[in-house]
Amino acid sequence: MKRLSTAALGFALLAPMTVLAEGDPAKGERVVNRCKACHAVGDGAANKVGPILDGIVGREASQISDFRYSDALLARAAEGLVGTKWR
Ligand code: HEC
Repeated sequence: MKRLSTAALGFALLAPMTVLAEGDPAKGERVVNRCKACHAVGDGAANKVGPILDGIVGREASQISDFRYSDALLARAAEGLVGTKWR
C-alpha cells in the first residue's frame, strides 16, 4: 500500500475537517486532537483502539491488515466505503 508522507497526510486529514470548521485551521486541529486518543498516523504509527489512519483519504475503508475491524465496518467497506469526508 502506498504510504503518504506525514505532512501530506496531515494536510489530507486536516483539509476536509478545516472546511467543516468553517476555514479555521485551529479549530480543525482541535478536531483531529480528539481522534488521537484512538488513532495514530505517520512514521512509526501503531494501531490503538482504532486503526492507524495513514492514507485514509481516498482509500477504501478497512485496509489496515493487522486491525480487527467490526463486522459493521467490514460490511460498509464491502459496499465501497471510501475515506473522503467526515460529518
Ligand atoms: C473512542 C475511540 C475513537 C475515537 C476518538 C475516534 N475513532 Fe475512528 N475508529 C475507532 C475504532 C474502534 C475504529 C474501527 C471501527 C470498526 O472496526 O467498526 C475506527 C475507525 C475509523 C476509520 C476507518 C479506518 C479504516 O481503516 O477503515 C476512520 C476513517 C476513523 N476512525 C476516523 C476518525 C476520525 C477522523 C476521528 C476524529 C474526528 C476518530 N476516528 C476518532 C475509534 C475511534
